[in-house]
Amino acid sequence: MSHLWTIGGSTVFLCLIQCIVSLENGLARTPPMGWLAWERFRCNTDCKNDPENCISERLFRTMADLVVSEGYAAAGYEYINVDDCWLEKERSPTGQLVADRARFPRGIKSLSDYIHSKGLKFGIYEDYGNYTCAGYPGVLGYLQTDAETFASWDVDYVKLDGCYAHPSDMDRGYPEFGFNLNQTGKAMIYSCSWPVYQIYAGMQPNYSSIIQHCNLWRNFDDIQDSWASVESIIDYYGNNQDLVVPNAGPGHWNDPDMLIIGNFGLSYEQSKTQMAIWAILAAPLLMSVDLRTIRPEYKAILQNKKIIAVDQDPLGIQGRRIYKHKGIEIWSRPITPLFQNYFSYAIAFVNRRTDGTPSDVAVTLKELGLTSPTGYKVMDLYEDVDYGVLTPQTKIKVKVNPSGVVILRGDVQPDYNRRLPFYTTQKTVYNPLNQVFRVRTNGF
Ligand SMILES: *[C@@H]1O[C@H](CO)[C@@H](O)[C@H](O)[C@H]1NC(C)=O
Ligand SMILES: *[C@@H]1O[C@H](CO)[C@@H](O)[C@H](O)[C@H]1NC(C)=O
Ligand SMILES: *[C@@H]1O[C@H](CO)[C@@H](O)[C@H](O)[C@H]1NC(C)=O
Repeated sequence: MSHLWTIGGSTVFLCLIQCIVSLENGLARTPPMGWLAWERFRCNTDCKNDPENCISERLFRTMADLVVSEGYAAAGYEYINVDDCWLEKERSPTGQLVADRARFPRGIKSLSDYIHSKGLKFGIYEDYGNYTCAGYPGVLGYLQTDAETFASWDVDYVKLDGCYAHPSDMDRGYPEFGFNLNQTGKAMIYSCSWPVYQIYAGMQPNYSSIIQHCNLWRNFDDIQDSWASVESIIDYYGNNQDLVVPNAGPGHWNDPDMLIIGNFGLSYEQSKTQMAIWAILAAPLLMSVDLRTIRPEYKAILQNKKIIAVDQDPLGIQGRRIYKHKGIEIWSRPITPLFQNYFSYAIAFVNRRTDGTPSDVAVTLKELGLTSPTGYKVMDLYEDVDYGVLTPQTKIKVKVNPSGVVILRGDVQPDYNRRLPFYTTQKTVYNPLNQVFRVRTNGF
């Protein structure tokens, strides 16, 4: 992993463990954020009977409008991404991809222009095989033509799926299409499904090659609208963290798939858990939800600026599951600011139990790996609770609701002894709540 760290005004270049050679198209320095049609709107092509929900230019224009007018753009959501089912079944006589003429009557360039006019960016979907997953033309045999078509439409983001392709061809094919994208001269985020199809085929993905050629990639199953699906994804990234975590960094990210917050399948607590864990995972934040009807409490989760700041932390270090016992999990992600060789951390406590009462979890900062003698300023990222500055010996206690989460951040403090004038003006470093959190009732 290579990171550019700025400490006290000086820039230090560090290679931790190993230096990774990665795709350098200047994009996705933090995980991309936006809106993606698939999980919520699927392959609904029935504009006659369901004009408001079918895959059409109308749907994407409406979502772009709402991303801006409802405050999502201000919170960082930027890309409006089309998924499968936007195409005509046949290419043009000269071999070009053509958008469905009835559902995208003004064509893709016009949609792209509209989305850009809103200050947003435009993403599109294709597939490395002969067909997309839903049976529309794939890029195989037309790699250069299709890359050039996307550039001519001013596309900013390409998701390349892997249906109807041989997984063993992908080590050659995904880099080849990435090369074709690069050769257009138009910078486009490149989202690959390369590893997940190889894993399905029993192959070991070559992550050092994937990092070199893709800005993000899918490792695991498509998300579905259920807590069971979210749990299976959380388990995948926890159980495989030694393999996948080192591959994430600025410009190259593991993609655990879309946020389904605000749909039908997750409770309020479960929605908070998805948002918190996706931030710990340094995941792309791609909402797949109907922004016309989302309830305010779910919108507030998606727009939680403190959690988005964790997701978008400039170090780009993916977090890990550091504790798992009797249904309680603790996840931790190193973030900025840094002091000397100490990180700050985001810490998520997840309760996977279903016995209907909150579980108490009590743990010292030191046990969580927060060991700087200068202490940490700790705050809750959902509740408006500021714990003040705590020492590594301080025991914190949190109540975690069934299938819910508590997410905190602990910002490492500078050495106050060397900055006395500042310290003496900060009399309230210890919050009264601090005393309460020294009490251990159960848990560890
Ligand atoms: C794609 O189509 C070509 C031409 O019909 C065929 O030779 C090739 O085997 C197909 N590839 C896959 C992965 O199905
Ligand atoms: C193409 O690749 C080169 C070399 O990695 C890079 O410097 C350049 O920014 C890329 N251009 C685009 C448009 O992606
Ligand atoms: C993985 O890809 C890298 C970079 O393309 C290559 O040098 C290496 O030989 C590949 N490793 C395997 C096991 O194929």
